[in-house]
Amino acid sequence: MTKLIYNAKIYTPQDEGEPRRGAAASELMVLDPGAMLIHDGVVVALGSDPDALAAERGAGGGAESETPIVTKIDMKIDMQGRCVIPGFVDPHTHLCFAATRENEFRMRLGGADYMEIHRAGGGIMSSVRSLRETALEPLLARTLAGLERSLSFGVTTVEVKTGYGLETQAELRQLEAIRLAAEQVVQDVVPTFLGAHSIPVEYRERREEFVQLVIEEMLPAAAETGVPRYCDIFTEESVFTVSESERILTRAREFGMELKAHVDEIVNLGGAEMAARLGCVSAEHLIASDDDGLAAMAEAGTIAVVLPGTSFSLKKPYARAPRMIELGVPVALATDCNPGSCYTESMPFIVTLAVMQAGLSIEQALTAVTLNAAHAIGAAERAGSLEPGKYADFVVLEGESPAVIPYHLAVNPVREVYKRGELVHRA
Ligand code: NIG
Ligand code: FE
Repeated sequence: MTKLIYNAKIYTPQDEGEPRRGAAASELMVLDPGAMLIHDGVVVALGSDPDALAAERGAGGGAESETPIVTKIDMKIDMQGRCVIPGFVDPHTHLCFAATRENEFRMRLGGADYMEIHRAGGGIMSSVRSLRETALEPLLARTLAGLERSLSFGVTTVEVKTGYGLETQAELRQLEAIRLAAEQVVQDVVPTFLGAHSIPVEYRERREEFVQLVIEEMLPAAAETGVPRYCDIFTEESVFTVSESERILTRAREFGMELKAHVDEIVNLGGAEMAARLGCVSAEHLIASDDDGLAAMAEAGTIAVVLPGTSFSLKKPYARAPRMIELGVPVALATDCNPGSCYTESMPFIVTLAVMQAGLSIEQALTAVTLNAAHAIGAAERAGSLEPGKYADFVVLEGESPAVIPYHLAVNPVREVYKRGELVHRA
């Protein structure tokens, strides 16, 4: 099946095999008018002249090839001058959970502090209690609902973490829910094991035993399933220390998982340096990181996954994303969708916050929610930009440029979502 989309305004970063950083984070390819030729769900060619594209010898053939791989066009789609961007990649979510925490949100509005609630045995622990009591089916149903909402906001590739089981069987059930959801949804789903998301209350007086449990039992069991690609951890005051985190992540790597870490969200424990030292693919949050930590990440090529929705929801400062770019750190953005610190599936809202509050330009924000986000979850080979050889995963915005996202406030700017060339959602 061959499709030609035309009369679009196409905005996309270009992949040079690594996330874009520094000045390159602001460079987008803009085609106005823009056309894109798609064959069997994969981008064959882009350009301004649809007739020239129709004669294109695309990926697989190469310009010098005798026969064009596309001989006839089955469908032409007029984008009527609308903006087309790559499908959003959400590289950090906890959207597999059993119950919301609206009560805690009300407590926070009343002045209670997120980490105070956590220390008192609520917070993550309250999600752990509800998940432990929830069977696979309802957990899967809620996960599917979250992923469907995420799709309606233009997300075509998404990472999902465990971390609400914190005991072997419950973590495995959560991993199974993520695996089953991945089979059923339109998006590509990247699973992450986060068995060290918190010290469960029953281990608070004997934390070393919990670290041992993660290392000796949970990690091997999770690895055995073959599901998680990444291992993540919450390195923070009152959660895991840097040295505990290093032990757990190092063990995870021995099981073949790549590494991520929630660091410097509230207190700077040197988490950014740790992530760089361990060769983590990404470090998340980074609100309290200093220049030394960021410089270490730039040096190591560790991607900063900035979570402005969490800053907004917790009424905390925003991570210094412009400074990261200045220092050469590749910056990605994510929802952090979870029932506690940030309950949203909306990547457009994240772009809005990044531009209006965290100091990024529209170009930098778009790069951060597409190509750099794809690199942060190992999905860039097929996702994150519109280029020959990549999946034709794209979003049609109700507007002329990506600026419509923060401009048309608090509405969903996503008109249509295409996954591998197929229309999968229409507003
Ligand atoms: O990234 N900070 C740690 N974990 C999540 C929140 C999890 C929760 O509160 O349920 C986060 O914000
Ligand atoms: Fe998170």
